[in-house]
Amino acid sequence: MVKKAIFPVGGLGTRFLPATKALPKEMLPVVDKPLIQYAIEEAIEAGIEEFIFVTGRNKTAIEDHFDHSVELEAVLHQKQKHEALETVRNMMRVPGTVAYVRQQEPAGLGHAVWCARHLVGNEPVAVLLADDLVLGQPALKEMTDNYQGGNMVAVMEVPKEDTSSYGIVTAGSDDGTMVTIDGIVEKPSPQNAPSNLAVIGRYIIEPEIFDVLGAQEAGVGGEIQLTDALATRIGASPFSGYRFSGKRFDCGSKIGFQKANIAFSLERDDMADELRAWLATQI
Ligand code: G1P
Repeated sequence: MVKKAIFPVGGLGTRFLPATKALPKEMLPVVDKPLIQYAIEEAIEAGIEEFIFVTGRNKTAIEDHFDHSVELEAVLHQKQKHEALETVRNMMRVPGTVAYVRQQEPAGLGHAVWCARHLVGNEPVAVLLADDLVLGQPALKEMTDNYQGGNMVAVMEVPKEDTSSYGIVTAGSDDGTMVTIDGIVEKPSPQNAPSNLAVIGRYIIEPEIFDVLGAQEAGVGGEIQLTDALATRIGASPFSGYRFSGKRFDCGSKIGFQKANIAFSLERDDMADELRAWLATQI
């Protein structure tokens, strides 16, 4: 039912300088794979067939990453490095299923999503933020398996003092996994937050959201917020939150990124034992 996904990758990565001065933050690797590739693979597992990147200046490394590298492939072929060759070739999608649209200025997540409107058309679409990396069950697949129309976001409890970093929802009915959402607000202070149930960067949005975004004023931080558009649709269409089962890492922050690298390395047979032994000597 959800066949397209938007990947907003136009952000400047200001929380990760100096690494992200020339390098797109989505290209930072966790173990040996860039964040954006994890997001694409999660989308594929959820049955997504069309991939729309909302990109910006200085982001061409992302396009190159998902294209042939002719010289590299020739060398790998010549040296008979079959496994490495397969790794780089497997990243190629079906021709014509990957589209790039430029967001000329980073004007907010809502604005980035709106930039993809003509490529989406009149159908629900997933949105994945590569900064939010999930270890374990692919979160978007859990959502698409349970999607029944309207809008849906991935949610998790966060410490109350962190509410000002997230979209925060007011839950209505709650069966422990799915919640109905009665309200949503972008980055409230802990004193004003309606709860500590936060939106994590996985969304399924209905096409009506694009019209809302097109007419929307800037919100928190002077940016066009996707959260505000979702709030406008409450009452008009169903809105649910899904408590995904995986463990989420905030790879937009330096500490979250380090934790992700350790956690993902500990999942790898070729690294886990040595890393665990070394870590034990460090504490
Ligand atoms: C964005 C959204 C926010 C959401 C967060 C999840 O914020 O605006 O509602 O909770 O992603 O990571 P950002 O982290 O881009 O400031």
